[in-house]
Amino acid sequence: QWIYLNGEYVTKEDAKVSVYDHGFLYGDGIFEGIRIYGGNIFKCKEHLDRLYDSAKSIMLDIPLTQDEMQEALVETISRNEMRDGYIRLIVSRGPGNLGLDPKRCPAAWVIIIVEQLAIYSEEAYKNGLVSVSVSQRRNIPDALNPKIKSLNYLNNILVKIQANLAGVGEAIMLNSQGYVAEGSSDNIFIIKKGVVYTPPCYVGALEGITRAAIMELCAKLGYTLKEEPFTLHDVYVADEVFFTGTAAEVIAVREVDGRKIGSGQAGPITTRLLQEFRSIVT
Ligand code: PDD
Repeated sequence: QWIYLNGEYVTKEDAKVSVYDHGFLYGDGIFEGIRIYGGNIFKCKEHLDRLYDSAKSIMLDIPLTQDEMQEALVETISRNEMRDGYIRLIVSRGPGNLGLDPKRCPAAWVIIIVEQLAIYSEEAYKNGLVSVSVSQRRNIPDALNPKIKSLNYLNNILVKIQANLAGVGEAIMLNSQGYVAEGSSDNIFIIKKGVVYTPPCYVGALEGITRAAIMELCAKLGYTLKEEPFTLHDVYVADEVFFTGTAAEVIAVREVDGRKIGSGQAGPITTRLLQEFRSIVT
């Protein structure tokens, strides 16, 4: 396995960062999770646009242009002979001193890891996940804006810990006003009477690329889609619920906080959207 580390390709054993790297010390950095389907990087431009927006927002100077970054992705994939897999692209502020001042970090570090990935079983895709809501709140935009895909994932990790404690695969976090925001690492959709709903990102969600692809598919398939805030009550009484994400793809939810969702398995619209999604990625 070859890992891209600042322009060099190193083995997994040699892929190391400094203990003074501010990505390690402070989570000062950004990242993208990107899928490879049949040798193609799915939505590469969208992912790189989001990465460079995140970089600009935290004033992190990426030492590659977007085109150079795309070439680095393509080169890393071909060196690993990867046809179907998952790319983790990380840009950290780089090594500095122990203080948190980014001015003390002369150069950002760019890391590209490619791996096989299957976070949910085929059975989970068919039957849907059991999920819960958690007390951990999504930081709302005026805190650390959830639109910035930063290495600051403790908010999400604390959600994952509560999911683990509840023995479920994914959990739903709300924002501080009690509106549903998203999962620990995916966006959320609900369906009620044939209408598809997803929270607007200002509620506290990453502007998911899979979310956007599903919204486009809804339009193409003629489903009415509404981007509006909703609450756990709306989730409980929904006919269908599903999560979307690069790693998760489209995965149904069959129960939330002990309430069975619709028929208690992947609903018809969710199943149709997953089929359509799988057909556009290959
Ligand atoms: N990220 N929300 C959060 C907090 C996420 O971490 C992710 C995905 C999403 C889905 O966004 P997208 O569809 O662009 O992947 C939403 C993980 C690391 C991933 O799936 O790669």
